[in-house]
Amino acid sequence: MDLGLRDKNVLITGSTAGIGRRIANLFAAEGANVAICSRTEESVKQAVKEMSLMAEGRIVGAPCNIKEKEDYEKWVADMAEELGGVDVFIPNVSAGGGNDSERNWWKNFEVDVLGTVRGVEAVLPLMEETGGAITMIGTTAAVETFMEPQPYNAMKASLITYAKQLSQAHGENGVRVNVVSPGPIYFDGGAWDMIKISNEKFYGITEKTHALGRLGTPEEVANCVVFLSSQAASWVTGVNLVVDGGYTKRVQL
Ligand SMILES: NC(=O)c1ccc[n+]([C@@H]2O[C@H](COP(=O)([O-])OP(=O)(O)OC[C@H]3O[C@@H](n4cnc5c(N)ncnc54)[C@H](OP(=O)(O)O)[C@@H]3O)[C@@H](O)[C@H]2O)c1
Repeated sequence: MDLGLRDKNVLITGSTAGIGRRIANLFAAEGANVAICSRTEESVKQAVKEMSLMAEGRIVGAPCNIKEKEDYEKWVADMAEELGGVDVFIPNVSAGGGNDSERNWWKNFEVDVLGTVRGVEAVLPLMEETGGAITMIGTTAAVETFMEPQPYNAMKASLITYAKQLSQAHGENGVRVNVVSPGPIYFDGGAWDMIKISNEKFYGITEKTHALGRLGTPEEVANCVVFLSSQAASWVTGVNLVVDGGYTKRVQL
C-alpha cells in the first residue's frame, strides 16, 4: 500500500524519545520531511543527526517547550518555513498521569489540552488551502476507568471531543482530524518500564488484562498514527482509534 507520504511535511511534538520518536522515525522511513522537538537542545540535535542518516526526506528540529505559548508558536512557524508548509501535525506531548490534585489538573490542562489546542490553531491556517491531517494522541485511560480518578484521564478524554468537532468544522478544507488512543505501551525508560520496576505485581496484572497477553510497543502505535495521517486513510476523519491489544473491555459500537 502506498501511504503517499513522500515529500509531505510532518510536524511532531515531543519526538526525541518514546512513542513520538517512533512516529517520527516511521514518517521519515516513508520519505516524509519531518520536524521534531523536545525541551532539550542536545537530544534534538542527536535525534536529527540519527534520523538524517536513514532518511530520504529532510529532518529538522529545534528545542521547544510546548508549555511556552510563544516558543511553541515560533517552533511551528519556523519548522513550517524550513520545510515549506505543513501537511501533517501530531501533537504528542503529555504531562502524564498523577494524582487528583489541583496542581495536576492545571498541569494536564496546560500540557495535554492547551498543548494540543495551541498547536492546532497554529497549523490550521497553514493547512487551509492544501488540506492536511491532524492526529492527536489520546489514551485508553480516557475511555475506560483506569487506576483512580485523575486529571490525565479526563483531560485526554476532552481531546476526543475536540478532534471530532474540528473534523466537522474543517473537513470542507480537506483537513482530517483523528485521535489514536494507545493502551499501556512498554519501552526502555518509559512509564511502564518504571512501573515494571516499582510495582511488578501491577505490571503482571496489566499484561494479563490484554486479550493479546502483553503490553504494546511504540512501533505498533506509530504504525497506526502514520496510517491515519496518510492518504491511505483519506476517508477517515473524526475517529478515535484505540490501539491496545484488547486491553479495554467495552464494546465500541
Ligand atoms: N507510554 C504509554 O504507555 C502511553 C499510553 C497511552 C498514551 N500515551 C501517550 O503517548 C504520548 C507519548 O507518550 P510517551 O510515553 O512516549 O512519552 P515520553 O516517553 O515521556 O516522551 C516524551 C517526549 O516528549 C518530550 N517532551 C516532554 N515534555 C515536553 C514539553 N513540555 N515540550 C516539548 N517536548 C516535551 C520529551 O523530551 P524532553 O524531556 O527532552 O523534553 C520526549 O522527547 C503521550 O501523549 C502519552 O500520553 C502513552
